[in-house]
Amino acid sequence: MSQPVFPVPAALKSTAHVDAQAYQELYRRSLDDPEGFWREQAQILDWAKPFTSVKNTRYSPDEVAIEWFADGRLNASFNCLDRHARDRGGDAAILWEGDTPGDSRTVTWNDLKQEVSRLANALKALGVRKGDFVSVYLPVVPEAIAAMLACARIGAVHSVVFSGFSAQALAGRIEDCRSRVLITADEGLRAGKHVPLKKNVDVALESLPVVEHVLVVRRTGCEVPMTAGRDRWYDEALAEASVDSPPVEVGAEDPLFVLYTSGSTGKPKGMLHTTGGYLVHAAASFRAMFDYHPGDVHFCTADVGWVTAHTYLIYGPLANGATIVLFEGVPTWPDASRWWQIIETYKVNIFYTAPTAIRSLMRDGEGPVRRHDLSSLRIMGSVGEPINPEAWIWYHEVVGGGRCPIIDTYWQTETGAVLLCPLPGAMDLKPGSAAKPFFGVRPVLLAGDGTIVEGEGAGNLCFADSWPGQARTILGDRERFLKTYFSTFPGYYFTGDGARRDEDGYYWITGRLDDVINVSGHRLGTVEVESALASHPSVAEAAVVGMPHEIKGQGIFAFVTLKDGVAESDNLRRDLVQVVRTRIGPIATPDRIEWAPQLPKNRSGKILRRILTRIAAGDYENHGDTSTVADPTVVAEIVRRVQLPK
Ligand code: WT7
Repeated sequence: MSQPVFPVPAALKSTAHVDAQAYQELYRRSLDDPEGFWREQAQILDWAKPFTSVKNTRYSPDEVAIEWFADGRLNASFNCLDRHARDRGGDAAILWEGDTPGDSRTVTWNDLKQEVSRLANALKALGVRKGDFVSVYLPVVPEAIAAMLACARIGAVHSVVFSGFSAQALAGRIEDCRSRVLITADEGLRAGKHVPLKKNVDVALESLPVVEHVLVVRRTGCEVPMTAGRDRWYDEALAEASVDSPPVEVGAEDPLFVLYTSGSTGKPKGMLHTTGGYLVHAAASFRAMFDYHPGDVHFCTADVGWVTAHTYLIYGPLANGATIVLFEGVPTWPDASRWWQIIETYKVNIFYTAPTAIRSLMRDGEGPVRRHDLSSLRIMGSVGEPINPEAWIWYHEVVGGGRCPIIDTYWQTETGAVLLCPLPGAMDLKPGSAAKPFFGVRPVLLAGDGTIVEGEGAGNLCFADSWPGQARTILGDRERFLKTYFSTFPGYYFTGDGARRDEDGYYWITGRLDDVINVSGHRLGTVEVESALASHPSVAEAAVVGMPHEIKGQGIFAFVTLKDGVAESDNLRRDLVQVVRTRIGPIATPDRIEWAPQLPKNRSGKILRRILTRIAAGDYENHGDTSTVADPTVVAEIVRRVQLPK
């Protein structure tokens, strides 16, 4: 089957930072001489003390070591702030657009530097020292960026928790990194609805004496209880703090942040990222993949709680001095033209979003897009899950007017920054393919038995060597880090994804191979949802699998076995949904719950998710090899129930 190919636009060939020939040469060089290549790339930053060693990495079966620029010293907030404020402090750094149309704010480099400096001092006054963790539970407001950069300024380590997570999910993430200080807001606003952030914090902290201080941003100005001695208003703390805050020099391998992500087992993993390598990779890849030129306005729609925002809304762009659009709301409220109106208003040049949003906006047709002048757009990106060709074409034709290359970026919370993507001036595009490796990145497809798949073919997507942005460990659990990423295929980093390489060497991600599902570009461990369900007193056991979902990519299908004597009912279904929302958050809401008198298991009692995944996908006959099922009637009964009219 021949696929459509979209050639590099003629204009870009001559103006882009990297053209086809440069990609070939630089990529080759990045593999042949990684030290020389990354030494050069690292010049994108200002180093307080230059590094002498570039790369000290080893992926061998008996030792995994990951260090980049180890003896260099720098400060991330200086790189993202001071050096831009110095020359053009009055220019816009952040163009903030609130949830309510008309509620907007421009933050200049000077403004941001002042706010970050004051907050850095306020944090110090609360006893935060270099290496301490600070949790951040904020909506998409400039204060969230200030919080991250203020931590970086004093060498503290931020842990941003998505404001859509529940009190319990927040508590787990605070407990894990033991932050003594938390920055939050009275409330969040999303599509006109109020999100009770401070209330969630109060619930989370009931059982967490570790948090000594809470700074509260006034977002909506609603009344919230303030605990004396613990809670302070953010604005009051800042008003008292000095605006003079010299950035603290930190080592390149000192931690910058931790960010939690779901794994296939157990509790979320705190991926620990360090300063030098992460910032080099973020800054250099942002510049190359979006062909960033000074003056470009960049709009990344991700929430500050995800890695996409850390790297390509905040650190990558700000390190380059880019002006960013920061949007608090959702694309479909008050109507489906909200993003397009923002792009027109701020003359956005680079736009970065997720396939799930594109699919949902496609339902509203071309009208809401056509009403706006999107001619400022030059480059558009996609991230979080494979983009289906229909969505790609719509994005390209309708939003981008057929002019803008679509940069499908494959990476993970663990990888810190991009690993696979086309470069806009260098590569023809194939809708649905993340194209080629970024500089210095060595993808390898491995068959199940560990043999290397050469040329065209499919396999487990692995990487043969480290890259600067790679997470250094799972906070507090090095064993789990090694086991999760380096034990399946010794000598390689294993992503957990499957991929195919085509005849042109383009990569096509086929999806997760483990018990992780991708719902609207958000990663969830099926086990996490199962444990939430199993915490309900009526539930004996639950198995959760992903199912195809038109908009979300994957939806959540839960098979639930009730305890003896418990009656099946819609009320109980609603209770179970509530349990999941309380333990994790609305993003984990099951799309479908089916009662299963028993779950299919093998003879040693392991749930056969493979079979349930097929059933969830509507495949009722073809269950593959069922010889391992201890009791085949269990499968037949589930199939019967799933097909019952609702
Ligand atoms: C997982 C990582 C990277 C920031 C957002 C998600 C999937 C991510 C793509 C893409 C196909 C993709 C993978 C990956 N994924 N980007 N362009 N094409 N799949 O970060 O939450 O850590 O999830 O998202 O399955 O392993 P994350």
